[in-house]
Amino acid sequence: MDFNIKTAQPEKQRTNCLVLAVFEAGKLPESTAHIDKVSNGYISRILKLGDISGKLGQTVILHDVANVQAERILLVGCGKINELTADNYREAVTKIATTLNSLNIHEAICCVNELNIQECDISWKMRQAVIIFGCATYKFEQFKSKPAGPKESKAVLNKIIFIISNRRDAEKAEKAIEIGMAANKGLQITKDLANTPPNICNPTYLAKAAQKLTKTYKSVSVAILERQDLQTLKMGAFLSVTQGSAQPPKLITLEYRGAAKTQQPIVFVGKGITFDTGGNSLKPAANMIGMKYDMCGAASVLGIITFAAELGLPINIVGVIAAAENMPGGTASRPDDVVTTMSGITVEILNTDAEGRLVLCDALAYCERFKPKVVIDLATLTGACITALGSHHSGLFTNHQPLANDLLTAGLISGDKCWQLPITAEYQKQLESSCADIANIGGPEAGSITAACFLSRFTQKYHWAHLDIAGTACRYTGKDRKATGQPVPLLCEYLISNHSK
Ligand code: BES
Ligand code: MN
Ligand code: ZN
Repeated sequence: MDFNIKTAQPEKQRTNCLVLAVFEAGKLPESTAHIDKVSNGYISRILKLGDISGKLGQTVILHDVANVQAERILLVGCGKINELTADNYREAVTKIATTLNSLNIHEAICCVNELNIQECDISWKMRQAVIIFGCATYKFEQFKSKPAGPKESKAVLNKIIFIISNRRDAEKAEKAIEIGMAANKGLQITKDLANTPPNICNPTYLAKAAQKLTKTYKSVSVAILERQDLQTLKMGAFLSVTQGSAQPPKLITLEYRGAAKTQQPIVFVGKGITFDTGGNSLKPAANMIGMKYDMCGAASVLGIITFAAELGLPINIVGVIAAAENMPGGTASRPDDVVTTMSGITVEILNTDAEGRLVLCDALAYCERFKPKVVIDLATLTGACITALGSHHSGLFTNHQPLANDLLTAGLISGDKCWQLPITAEYQKQLESSCADIANIGGPEAGSITAACFLSRFTQKYHWAHLDIAGTACRYTGKDRKATGQPVPLLCEYLISNHSK
């Protein structure tokens, strides 16, 4: 998908579709009012007819409008003029993107930059629009045996031009497009990996995907640790998760170098369980569907590194991916097993389905060697997080409040939101074990918090945040059963806002 800007008169543009906003109560933004005038009040007449009132998300398509060169006009309702919030803007642009994508057109010209939203500048509006268009046109068709049917065999929307009313905004707008397109590249990689079925996307496949990145970007390098290396490092918890699977585990370390070697890196750690059966604490059949998405954290790490490398951000990033498959069977670990982690802490495994924390605790201990500025782990860690927050916020946990504040803010800016939960001493107690240092589960209460508490035992040497993305990274059921790419937008924004100056 290609994005451009233009300072031009909208009525003079020969294009498949010109997109114009309308507000409730007949209020028209600049371009819409202008087109209304040159078309002798055509748009006002449509509004009077009442087919569109300006309510958020309404659309009407007009053909052959007098004195307008575009083949069509798409009118989109944006709600009340003084109530245009960031969320409403996103909703309106999403509607534009899905509507345009359903038409038989290649190209559209969009006048959304002139919409005034409090505290949102042109750069934000453009970044958001580019990402929303990218997501609306994303397809995953690698595993369809036939090309799209006649219903789908239409022109492919592949070009959006944004009208810029003020030429002085051009530079900002161009930069914003660049950032949005880099995010889209990252999102694409993340979603493709996440959606790929688990018989193909196994730990080895993830390692190959990481190696592929190093071919595309000179600034990215990779190191892959094998089972033997994990044994040498004494990663007993990670190894215990891998032992029931025929697929060999991989500990994948990616390094993006955009600054001097002396600059401490931002470290992202991804849970990369390419399929989670629950192990010998087997999941019920219905709960197992969608467990190919248990590597969304890992996929997001690759997405973020792609974003940084694409833009050449002036920072250093390390990505650590703990990739394994959680299978049951005669060689798999048992509930009641005790393992020793790389850090020396012993863990009583009371449920082999709480495997994410077992691979992560060793990956997190491994991170110390990078002398990180901060470590952020991304994991589809608990079903309890879906119960608590649904699909609208990722769970956020931290041992360093300023880091949480940065992530909360980046969430609000990007719309890829997170919500902080506590990891205080009361909850830590739930991890007490009768025979080891800690247990790997903390009972039925506060499941996301006790999972985060478990991780916190391994992150005391650096500033750390944990994002539980079980509810946000994908949809598990229905026709929307696919990866969302979250928290890639959140973390792209975090990098841009906090580390790119
Ligand atoms: N990968 C799951 C978490 C999960 C569940 C993600 C549902 C997405 C949807 C994780 O490994 C898991 O199984 N967690 C258990 C923990 C429990 C055994 C303490 C859970 O959430 O049930
Ligand atoms: Mn599990
Ligand atoms: Zn899992």
